[in-house]
Formats: sequence, structure tokens, C-alpha cells
Amino acid sequence: APVKVTKICCIGAGYVGGPTCAVIALKCPHITVTIVDLNQARVDAWNSPDFKLPIYEPGLEEVVREARGRNLFFSTDVDKGILEADLIFVSVNTPTKKSGVGAGFAADLNYVELATRRIAQVATSSKIVVEKSTVPCRTAESMRTILEANSKPNCHFDILSNPEFLAEGTAITDLFAPDRVLIGSLQTPEGISACASLTEVYANWVPKDRILNVGLWSSELSKLAANAMLAQRISSINALSAICEATGANIDEVAHAIGYDTRIGPKFLKASVGFGGSCFQKDILNLVYLSESLHLPEVAAYWRQVVEMNEHQKRRFSKRVVDTMFNTITGKRIAVLGFAFKADTGDTRESAAITLIRDFQSEKAYVNVYDPQVVEEQIWTDLAEASPLVPEEQIKKQVRICKSAMEACKDAEAVVIATEWKEFNEINWEEVYQSMNKPAFVFDGRLLVDAEKLRNIGFKVVTIGRP
Ligand code: UDX
Ligand code: UDX
Ligand code: ADP
Repeated sequence: APVKVTKICCIGAGYVGGPTCAVIALKCPHITVTIVDLNQARVDAWNSPDFKLPIYEPGLEEVVREARGRNLFFSTDVDKGILEADLIFVSVNTPTKKSGVGAGFAADLNYVELATRRIAQVATSSKIVVEKSTVPCRTAESMRTILEANSKPNCHFDILSNPEFLAEGTAITDLFAPDRVLIGSLQTPEGISACASLTEVYANWVPKDRILNVGLWSSELSKLAANAMLAQRISSINALSAICEATGANIDEVAHAIGYDTRIGPKFLKASVGFGGSCFQKDILNLVYLSESLHLPEVAAYWRQVVEMNEHQKRRFSKRVVDTMFNTITGKRIAVLGFAFKADTGDTRESAAITLIRDFQSEKAYVNVYDPQVVEEQIWTDLAEASPLVPEEQIKKQVRICKSAMEACKDAEAVVIATEWKEFNEINWEEVYQSMNKPAFVFDGRLLVDAEKLRNIGFKVVTIGRP
């Protein structure tokens, strides 16, 4: 019979491991969940008495408040976590490699491998090891080889792939009611039994018909495929937005019209200044790398184009800003509203705002940035990384971080909306207009504001996907 899971350990207390396992703890009071991480500061934040958690996610605090100390624990004692668990999630980071073979494309599996080796070294009893991080196809196979080559007698490891599909900003609602939970296993009796054990955990709150059991490699590839196809939709709508701007069609109307086709569907068709986030670009580049390693160059080129279109969209937008402002923004002050890669998160990984600000800096403009969630230190780090050749003093001379949208817009010549924070729609635009230099421009990179309303106030408004 399948092992009944009573103790779960999650290695990695990040954007994925933290919320996922906190929700498992909430929904399964009979299971003890310990989330371990090597990063002491991060663990301390998860444990902070006043719930100053290391990531901002609506609803997360409530979940942690209810479960922490009851059956949810955060710790830096990785070995103890491994030793006691019957099921271990590996939820460590898998960034794109910065050097060596596959640099810029392949996933850096060093963290996954180190965590896997640690499991093999420490475990004294059989475990179900679940790959949660997004990894290239066949990583589970490597994990299995490492575990089998290093295990003690009587220790048996079953590997499952259980990719996470939550989106940031809606992590908790996504976890409470997932479209589906995907569990991949080897189709052996042991694999199927391990799969049943994990299925039982999710079945505490997810309807059984939404828990999909597939082969190990299908599961791994499905995660990359889902993100690649979502990103492809955005690049497709963004490519159409360029045509709209050149022809007089309106991208909102086009998206609305095509979304009515039930085969296409209305979601994820919002033109923007480009997608960001830790997943889309990384996973597509992974898929490109995989295709190339499999000697499928045409397939690789097809997916690579999705990322290239995204880069193009960002460049096109900053060029439009410069063109509209009489072909020069030198010495002009630009207010950038939003720095996170999307609303309702403090995460800035691959955020389009970073590229835009870098472009404005190289045009010698002054930039005021405001974001309601991103911490100041993160903005400086991201901007420094984006312009490695520019000295920090220079960046700090050109960029100012502001405490409110109002403060950012004061004395600016243009406002650029980079993130679709709801509060940008609710600011007093009349007052903003009064405080700006004239002509006052608004560049809406998120189809957020009511352009007609702003025009009536006096703004010159430029919107993605409209002439
Ligand atoms: C298409 C559009 O569906 C229709 O809305 C438009 O008005 C005209 O073009 P049609 O060409 O008649 O209609 O057929 P469709 O069912 O869309 O199939 C087109 C091709 O795609 C066929 O060769 C079909 O076999 C193929 N196809 C379709 C696939 O290979 N896989 C699929 O999942 C769907
Ligand atoms: C994504 C996937 O949605 C999720 O299933 C997966 O587990 C991780 O990657 P996430 O990156 O958190 O989640 O955010 P998502 O909502 O998908 O947005 C990604 C980027 O696309 C954001 O920059 C967003 O602003 C942009 N986007 C999204 C658009 O530009 N237009 C859209 O219509 C939707
Ligand atoms: P993700 O978005 O995939 O969740 P994050 O970077 O937010 O990625 O989180 C990954 C976490 O994994 C980090 O907090 C990191 O410190 C932790 N981590 C990486 N390697 C190990 C390891 N071998 N043991 C424990 N924790 C690890």
C-alpha cells in the first residue's frame, strides 16, 4: 500500500517552496511540514514574530499565521528536516547559467544537485523525493542516479515530478483552487505507489479529477510547455500591438474580438510593455537549449523568437517614448510608475521596468521611480546589474526612488506606466497634471488608464497598441 505521508520537508523557502508548503500545512493539519533553507535571514523572516515575511503575496500572511507553530515550521537545519521526513520537496532555485556550457540558456542545476546529494548523504530511511523546481526534462533521472549511487542499504528513493503552476500575486488563490495538480512518476509499481502517496496529500483539498498522474518526463516537459505557450500568447498579442500602432487598429478591440473564439479564449491576451518574471524567459530558453541538444534547430528557433519578440517590444516602447518627446529625452525627467514585473508582487526578476529605465538612462534622462512594494535596495541592485559598465554614483545621479506616485511625477515631463498597479488608476491625475512640466506626456505600457479622461485633463497620452 502507498506510504501515508505524515512528515514533509521542503528544501528551499523561496517564492515557490514557501507559499506551496505553507498551504499544504494549512490544508493538512495532520501532516508536519518543515521548510528548510540555508539562508538564515530568509528563515528568520519567515519566523518573524510580527510576520514580516520575506515575500509579499496577498493572503500568505493569514496562512502562515494559522499554521506556523502548529504544523508548519521554518528552519535552517536542513539535515534534521531530511532525516525526519517521509516526503521531501526539492524547491531550490534553478537560475539560467551565467557561464560554461549553455550559458545564457541552460538551467543551472547546481543547487538541485547539491540538495539531492545532501538527501542521499543524510537519509537513513526510504523517502519520496519530489522535484518541485522547474527543471529541464530528465532532471529527475539525474536525481535518481545520484540518490541511488549514494544511498545506504535499506534506503529506497522514489522520484516524483510535481511542477508548480502558481503565478505570483495570486499564489494563495492558485494554490487553494488549482486548475490542476500535475504529478509525474515512473510507471513502475514503486513509482505509481509514490504517486498515490502524494496524490493523497493534495486530495485533502483538491478534487481528485484535477490531480493528473502522468509519466515523469511528460510532467517535466509540461511545465516548460505551459509557460512557453503562455509567453507565446503574450508575444503574439504584442506583435499585433505593433501592427495596431502602425495602422490605427486598437489592440484592446482586437484582443476582445479574437478572445471570443472559444478555441482561443479571452485570458492572457493583454498587450504590454513585455512579459517579465522569473519563469517565462528562463523556461523558454531552457526549451531552446533542450531543442538544440536534441538536434532540432528549427524547433529551437521557433521558441527563441518568443523571447526576441519580447525584447523587441521593450525596445520599441522606449523608442516610442523618445520619438514622441521630440526625439530627445536628454536632461528630461521621466516618472516610471511601477518596478515589479507585474502588479501585486514585490518581485522584480526580468521586469520590463529595468530595461526601460536602463534605456532612459542611456538617453541621459533623469528618472523618478515609484513602486508600492519593491524595496529600495532591490531597485539599486537591479539597475546596477542592468548597466554593469556604469558607475554606481552615475546611476544614483540619474535615478531617484520616490515614496509615492505623486512625488515621482512632480516636475516630470512624462509618466511611464510600467506595472499595472491598481493604485495608478486611482491617483489624482488632475493634481499630477498641475505638478508636471508641459506638455505633459503619459505613456501607458499596461493599458491601465482611461486615455480619454487623461486627454481631457490636458495630457498627451500614448498607449500600447493604439496609434
Ligand atoms: C479555419 C478556422 O478554424 C476558421 O475559423 C476560419 O474561418 C477558416 O480557417 P478550417 O481551415 O476550415 O477553418 O479548419 P480548422 O478546423 O481550423 O483546421 C485547419 C487545419 O488545422 C486542418 O488541417 C486541421 O487538421 C489542422 N488542425 C486543427 C490541427 O492540426 N490540430 C488541431 O488541433 C486543430
Ligand atoms: C507564470 C505562470 O503564469 C505560472 O503558471 C508559472 O507557474 C510561473 O510563471 P508569473 O511569472 O508569476 O507566473 O506571472 P504571470 O501572471 O504569468 O505574468 C508573467 C508576465 O506576463 C508578467 O510580466 C505579466 O505582466 C505579463 N503578462 C501577463 C502580460 O503582459 N499580458 C498578459 O495578458 C498576461
Ligand atoms: P523559487 O522562485 O524557485 O522559489 P527562490 O530563489 O525564491 O526560487 O528560492 C530558492 C531557495 O532555495 C533560496 O532561498 C535558497 O537559499 C534555497 N536553497 C538553495 N539551495 C539550497 C540547499 N542546498 N539547501 C537548502 N536551501 C537551498
